[in-house]
Amino acid sequence: MNPTSLLERSVGELVAEDFRRAHVFSQFGIDFCCGGGRSLAKACERAGVPTDRLLDLLETMAASGKADDTLNQLPLGELIDYIEANHHAYVREKAPLLLEYTAKMVRAHGEHFAEIKPLAAWVQALMDDLVPHLMKEEQVLFPAIRAMAAGEAVDGCFGHIGNPIRAMQHEHDDAGQILAKLREITGDYQPPENACTTWRVCYATLAEFEADLHRHIHLENNLLFPKVMALTC
Ligand SMILES: [Fe+2]
Ligand SMILES: [Fe+2]
Repeated sequence: MNPTSLLERSVGELVAEDFRRAHVFSQFGIDFCCGGGRSLAKACERAGVPTDRLLDLLETMAASGKADDTLNQLPLGELIDYIEANHHAYVREKAPLLLEYTAKMVRAHGEHFAEIKPLAAWVQALMDDLVPHLMKEEQVLFPAIRAMAAGEAVDGCFGHIGNPIRAMQHEHDDAGQILAKLREITGDYQPPENACTTWRVCYATLAEFEADLHRHIHLENNLLFPKVMALTC
């Protein structure tokens, strides 16, 4: 593939084509979910990443095997099933644990380490945003998409399907900003050397949660929503 043409394409489109590229982008701090609309050249410039190094890695990865594009081939209803069964279930499983860990850290270390109370507050803010977000998707947007995909009339009070999609994208941007804040507060999820086990488990879980939420948002913003919008053309 011509490397120059890769630089001109959007980051979201490149990840939708081959999800393994997401791992390379993550390594370099390139936002591929909320910032998925940017060209790779612009995203590199924004993240301060040398394009030749990134293109080398993408090329090595492309030569190492075929992409798993199973999700891209799924009918819309099955893609939604996948998102709900994997990513919505994951948020519901981990949210209470993260709230418990951060509450424990506030009790044990909140008075001595300046980052702990803001960390707990931002984790709470993230979960307060995410739980209703999942419900809006499951109860309003996803049933409407399933109906559209089945060729049925969409019975919603939201007007055009683009309206709830834009609302969800906006909420994804908000969640992405909170994740960036958490990364900043925690110094890229690096616990101090003398950190207790809860602190270490909390940071490791947060790093995993971030990766899962990035993938979750990517699947909705760059795979699901464009396919739905294409149905309306
Ligand atoms: Fe979702
Ligand atoms: Fe979402």
